[in-house]
Amino acid sequence: MSKSEDFSLIKRLPPYVLSVVNELKYKERAKGEDIIDLGMGNPDQPTPAHIVDKLKEAVDNPRNHRYSSSAGIPKLRLAIANWYKRNYNVELDPDSEAVVTIGSKEGISHLMLSILSPGDSVVVPNPAYPIHIYSVIIARGDIQNVSLSNNEEDLIESIEKTIKEVWPKPKVLLISFPNNPTTQVVDLNFFEKIVDLAKEAGLIVVHDLAYADLCYDGYKAPSLLQVPGAKDVGVEFYTLSKSYNMPGWRVGFMVGNKKIIESLRRIKSYLDYGIFQPIQIASILALDGPQNCVEDIRNLYKLRRDKLIESFSRAGWKIPKPKATMFVWAEIPDEFKEIGSLEFSKLLIKESKVAVSPGIGFGNYGEGFVRLALVENENRILQAARGIKKLLR
Ligand SMILES: Cc1ncc(COP(=O)(O)O)c(C=O)c1O
Repeated sequence: MSKSEDFSLIKRLPPYVLSVVNELKYKERAKGEDIIDLGMGNPDQPTPAHIVDKLKEAVDNPRNHRYSSSAGIPKLRLAIANWYKRNYNVELDPDSEAVVTIGSKEGISHLMLSILSPGDSVVVPNPAYPIHIYSVIIARGDIQNVSLSNNEEDLIESIEKTIKEVWPKPKVLLISFPNNPTTQVVDLNFFEKIVDLAKEAGLIVVHDLAYADLCYDGYKAPSLLQVPGAKDVGVEFYTLSKSYNMPGWRVGFMVGNKKIIESLRRIKSYLDYGIFQPIQIASILALDGPQNCVEDIRNLYKLRRDKLIESFSRAGWKIPKPKATMFVWAEIPDEFKEIGSLEFSKLLIKESKVAVSPGIGFGNYGEGFVRLALVENENRILQAARGIKKLLR
């Protein structure tokens, strides 16, 4: 192969395993099959009307058509600080401790580029949301996998062991709770231990709090920054994609440690001119305005979760009820275990007319499971259960 065709980074970015299932889904749909899509975590409901209306109003003002600010306009950063104060009683300086990102996916990727040197290693519990792994690879870093045990003590122990044993010492620990794909949740005590560990080991902690608001049955997800001293070692990402049904708008933010914020701001100042300003203005209203829309979104996912768990159980597939996220993480039924999650997902499309995400797409430790996203309505979920029943009969 000539040098001009040898893209070493691209070789390390294989086509998403998750897209294999997607392609099969499109093929079946092209044949006229009605496939119920519980694959991608892409919220199906519209953005609340008051946020859309604000966007329309802001679009009409030509002043908002110019390049904006890559770190986010000051009023949006102020709204972020106020949101943290209201939700977690955490004080943030909007100028030095908050940066707006083009969704958290962009933010995490550019953060890794800004803080890692080639060969630096990052500890990531596995299974993981793919960009948690690939942001490190894109930055030419190394991944240190630890198994995402659902026992908090075990998880802390394996993170601690990895930090001690790996040489050169890892630079970053990247975690995310409530977790996608496993739906695992933690309490504040877990973050306290993580902060202690990071201080001792001189480690940066990056926490992705994408599912902060999608919690059920009385559970409330803590913020890493609620731990006193967390800002000394870490940062946290949040996204408007899920809590406010704004996935296509591409708005998120990172808050916490000033030096880390500054490094993301710096790289972004080279790479982008900021999110279209009307979107930033509407995002201020999302964070500062009426919050009953968040409650409605949460309630809808809860309803779907209950419907799915109940109807799938009646169909013969018993799955534990998640306490948070918009997903269900389901162990493959015993009789299909040996074919693995990718083949099982293909079988579900063909035989049950249901698309899911194979666990292996989230890393080796995801094998044996599939992830179902609660992005179809209740009737469609019941239809999916009927398809599953046919397969499990
Ligand atoms: C854990 C996690 N982080 C980040 C994201 C992406 O969020 P955004 O739309 O802000 O890029 C997702 C989306 O599914 C996610 O599950």
